[in-house]
Amino acid sequence: MPILNCAAEMQEEVAGWRRHLHQTPELNFDVFQTAGFVTEKLKAFGCDEVVTGLGKTGVVGIIRGRKGDGPTIGLRADMDALPIDEITGKPWASTVRGKMHACGHDGHTAMLLGAAKYLAETRNFAGTVAVIFQPAEEGGGGGNEMVKDGMMERFDIEKVFGMHNMPGLPVGQFAIRPGPIMAATAAFTITVKGRGGHAAMPHGTIDPIVIASQLVGALQTVASRSTDPVEAVVVSVTKFHAGDAYNVISESAEIAGTVRTLKKQIAKKAEERIRALCEGLGLAFGATVAVEYSSGYPVTFNHPEEMMFASDIAANVAGDGQVHRAIEPIMGSEDFSYMLEARPGAFIFIGNGDTAGLHNPAYDFNDEAIPHGMSYWVKLAETALAA
Ligand code: NI
Repeated sequence: MPILNCAAEMQEEVAGWRRHLHQTPELNFDVFQTAGFVTEKLKAFGCDEVVTGLGKTGVVGIIRGRKGDGPTIGLRADMDALPIDEITGKPWASTVRGKMHACGHDGHTAMLLGAAKYLAETRNFAGTVAVIFQPAEEGGGGGNEMVKDGMMERFDIEKVFGMHNMPGLPVGQFAIRPGPIMAATAAFTITVKGRGGHAAMPHGTIDPIVIASQLVGALQTVASRSTDPVEAVVVSVTKFHAGDAYNVISESAEIAGTVRTLKKQIAKKAEERIRALCEGLGLAFGATVAVEYSSGYPVTFNHPEEMMFASDIAANVAGDGQVHRAIEPIMGSEDFSYMLEARPGAFIFIGNGDTAGLHNPAYDFNDEAIPHGMSYWVKLAETALAA
């Protein structure tokens, strides 16, 4: 089955919404106009319920099928933009200096609104569709806030599905993989406190620079000697600050960096190894080594059964040869991961064609992808909730 006729017919209308959203980008949780636009549309479509203010500025629309009882599935889009100055020169370019939709969340929101309009008109399913519009995907953890606000329990959501555009993947194609599809992130700051003194009399000091330098070397062993070589882990030290003078050994040194992983147990092991190395080297040299470790977004993990289901839907919409079912994981991160930790589901990429990359000032969402994305959402809902 190709893309739905209705989705093709609605392309212009949905592209209009997309371009409107593109002109008025908002950041993080401050997506008040965008959430207002979404709310107004969902109400106009006749959603059974429209709930605002979930996870601060998130919106959920509830659409009940006309074919009887069934479970509730969640379809999720993100609404926030990025602090980038747009250079596309398009007629619908951002009107807000320093902000732009450089990740295509305008397109994600518009496509899910299009699907919501169709689903609210036809209601050709048994059960309930929850259309989820989240704020603050770009670092604020808006998805997590919605989960913490009790969204899954409140609407009795059983499964969740997410979609992101991918530049470089032809329009009309989809890409997915079972298991980890995007990485988990963590950040660390390590403060080495030694004993400062005269640079010509090092024996009377505990030199934090020497200790921190050893630590930078030791941290490389998290990947090279503590992790199975076939597993993915990145430990990068990206900051090193210490000292102010040629002839003074400083009191302290600070290093900081990032950790990326694809599995929970590897993430846990990496943190344990980093803490152990800090403690051990501190002991060895008589310094105090303090570690601040903060986990960012978890691994975006596609549950195997739902991944198969999602890729079959994509193949149904796009054709079998148009769906890549085993792409390599991407070491970026995504806060739909929190929803996938709360409920089974799958995250899929949709082709954006030959455009500039994500987070690039020349990027623009490709409106040609709209019928494909909309058809995917509609087909997924109608199949998952078939009477
Ligand atoms: Ni994005």
